[in-house]
Amino acid sequence: MGNDDDSVHAAIHELRSFGRRSGRTLNARQTRLVEDLLPKVRLPLHSPSSGAEELARVLVPGAQRVWLEIGFGGGEHLVAQARSHPDVAFIGCEPFIDGVVKVLSAIEDQAIANIRLFDDDARDVVRWLPAAAIDRAFILFPDPWPKTRHRKRRLVSAQTLALLARVMRTGAELRVATDIGDYARTILEAVHNQRAFRWTATGPQDWRIQGDDWPVTRYQQKAIREGRRSYFLRFVRD
Ligand SMILES: C[S@@+](CC[C@H](N)C(=O)[O-])C[C@H]1O[C@@H](n2cnc3c(N)ncnc32)[C@H](O)[C@@H]1O
Repeated sequence: MGNDDDSVHAAIHELRSFGRRSGRTLNARQTRLVEDLLPKVRLPLHSPSSGAEELARVLVPGAQRVWLEIGFGGGEHLVAQARSHPDVAFIGCEPFIDGVVKVLSAIEDQAIANIRLFDDDARDVVRWLPAAAIDRAFILFPDPWPKTRHRKRRLVSAQTLALLARVMRTGAELRVATDIGDYARTILEAVHNQRAFRWTATGPQDWRIQGDDWPVTRYQQKAIREGRRSYFLRFVRD
């Protein structure tokens, strides 16, 4: 699983979907968190994953389910969800080290025990995961890549949906948010064409309103300040 020639080939040819990986120089505490805490909570992608049945409790003793957040940015949503759902093992993926450090600080300050991190491309995690292991996945405000020549870098694509389809169990929910109208449209088209996921919306309220169990992210706050509408898309794995 995950290491066959096709997936290695796909990974080599995959375009980078994220921008910068680091911002400010880390201070002493942040450096300590990266050196000491990150290795303890980082997913062990160098060893084979366990089976889907035991993945939750292997990641977090006592956990019943696994939820995945791809591109958590500053981690506001990941941390809020992890606190609200202590019985869920969360996997958070983010290559931007400043965001990783924010979550590490929250883990330490708030004694959060149910978050595991991966500080690189989430697609590597998805290839590593066993089939039907994930109960819920979030991709919130993926990088918009607005220039036409950059569009192929957009993370939510037919390829990413195919990767996710393998690891999400039947009935699992995939939540995607974007404030870019044409990105929302291409996501809906890709989902429709691929047929592994079903869009659950029955009317405009379903994509206009995010609901109480969907914490606001930092990027979303910026979109609100700048007057852009967001689209909240919920899909179910068929
Ligand atoms: C526009 S930001 C939004 C961050 C956060 N979800 C929010 O709403 O505030 C998109 C994030 O996705 C991350 N990202 C992009 N491609 C990724 C990938 N392949 N794997 C993991 N994270 C990725 C970027 O580093 C960036 O932090």
